[in-house]
Amino acid sequence: MRAILTALILGAATITAAPVQAAEVSDEIKAGKRVYMTKTCLACHGRNGARGVLSYPVLAGQNEKYLLAQLTAIKSGERVGSVDETTGHTFVQGMADIMHLLSEDDMKNVVAYLAVQKPARPKVLDPAPSEADLKLGAKTYKKLGCRACHGKEGERASNKAYPIIAGLDRVYLMRQMTNMRDKVRVHGKAKLMYGVIKRADDDDIAAIATWLSQVDRNKD
Ligand code: HEC
Ligand code: HEC
Repeated sequence: MRAILTALILGAATITAAPVQAAEVSDEIKAGKRVYMTKTCLACHGRNGARGVLSYPVLAGQNEKYLLAQLTAIKSGERVGSVDETTGHTFVQGMADIMHLLSEDDMKNVVAYLAVQKPARPKVLDPAPSEADLKLGAKTYKKLGCRACHGKEGERASNKAYPIIAGLDRVYLMRQMTNMRDKVRVHGKAKLMYGVIKRADDDDIAAIATWLSQVDRNKD
């Protein structure tokens, strides 16, 4: 009992001694979670942003700066992207339609919340890729020089404004690479990708996407 009491008191002391900034961050994250749960994000990006439906991206554990830039570009209509043939609208349309629900503060809070969520586990692919498929993807990624900005396995970005790309949905990855190669994705820093991605053909893109989608950021 005494030990428990001591632990509780010590625990309380630690909380009191925590820097003011930590309390502010946590309020921001709490507010961000509320935004995420109430402004329809959950329906398309799944629990904690870690389970995108269909070919929609996971957001959990993504760089905060990158997330905010994307939200801003989707809200302003700068990020358009390709058309989803099953709906006849761009993939981003359903999201663009709800972005008026978010204030500037909501946007800042929701990205603060998403950035600290545990990264998604890779989606299981059917059929499962072979070892040879995965190796080919890793090799192509290395050969094309993607590591310079996205890290050895897409798990780290060389700049906080660049995305982490490991563990994203395979079809989402293919779509974004293709959109940048074909200059359908033109907003923000997409131009930084043009020089390398133009050297990737459809097979290279498919191989890289298969491999990247299976990199597990939680493995360490
Ligand atoms: C109707 C479905 C839908 C809703 C609702 C939705 N999104 Fe999205 N979101 C998408 C799709 C689809 C994309 C990817 C578009 C593409 O492939 O071009 C996306 C992309 C994003 C991106 C860019 C990710 C990246 O890696 O570039 C962010 C950030 C994002 N959504 C956050 C949110 C937040 C926060 C909310 C709630 C305010 C939300 N979304 C609501 C469907 C949705
Ligand atoms: C010079 C730096 C640089 C290099 C090299 C680079 N990228 Fe990127 N990449 C970026 C930036 C910056 C973005 C985000 C663009 C934006 O602001 O919308 C990005 C975005 C992406 C995205 C979209 C992520 C998302 O969530 O929507 C994918 C996928 C991607 N890169 C894959 C690759 C691959 C594969 C290669 C190698 C063929 C590569 N990149 C090489 C800088 C780079």
